[in-house]
Amino acid sequence: MADIRNIVVLTGAGISAESGIDTFRSAGGLWEQHRVEDVATPQAFARDPDLVLRFYDMRRENIQKAQPNAAHAALARLDQHWQGNLLIVTQNVDDLHERAGAQRLIHMHGEHLSAWCLACDGRTRWHAPLFDRPGCPHCGEAALRPDIVWFGEMPYRMDEIDRAISQCDLFVSIGTSGAVYPAAGYVRTARHYGARTLELNLDPSQGSIMFHECRMGRATDLVPAWVDEMLTHQADWL
Ligand code: OAD
Repeated sequence: MADIRNIVVLTGAGISAESGIDTFRSAGGLWEQHRVEDVATPQAFARDPDLVLRFYDMRRENIQKAQPNAAHAALARLDQHWQGNLLIVTQNVDDLHERAGAQRLIHMHGEHLSAWCLACDGRTRWHAPLFDRPGCPHCGEAALRPDIVWFGEMPYRMDEIDRAISQCDLFVSIGTSGAVYPAAGYVRTARHYGARTLELNLDPSQGSIMFHECRMGRATDLVPAWVDEMLTHQADWL
């Protein structure tokens, strides 16, 4: 504990579960009998754009009704008070971390509230449906897609994430099943560079064995308690 200054936190769907947003692999990973992987690919969008746009319109609407929970609030508190380096890397495409107040944040899998124009490459804050093919505010073309990283596409801001992981003293994984790479490999990278590693999750993830310490329980219990520990620890070295 004594030498922890730089922290990377990775979050997944489990941190938003208690805000009422379904995790990916709950309900067997099915949505209207489609495997989630079958709607979250560029091939699915090419084959059946109505299906894919409907799926994301529904999720975009749901996240706007949800509220950040105590785990999001605790990470925002850590962000506000932690004097060392901190990076929150989320795989989530909801905006609950930023609505709770977190700022040192990367959405590695994109964002529901952003639309990406395939005609002009512009990105626009977006709250409405895409199913009815609205025009792009930049170029007017009806070529908007969800600004979400689909399977087979490159996650965002990988260089910044890799740099932060290679320099962190503590890597913490919260509410993710460890099923999807590259995020699932971050614990291994962090250990390679000598970081301490901690998992906070409801159940053991696929990568649990890689962590120095695992705490099992609900994010709204575990995360505030861990943040309290970190801020108490910080008071010792400030
Ligand atoms: P998953 O649905 O795979 O895993 C959610 C994890 O959260 C599981 O390990 C649960 O045990 C845990 N969990 C559930 N409720 C919890 C709670 N209240 N407190 C703490 N933990 C809880 O979601 P992700 O790991 O985030 O990618 O999925 C990773 C990626 O796969 C997603 O970002 C998405 C998906 O396909 C893309 O869209 C590119």
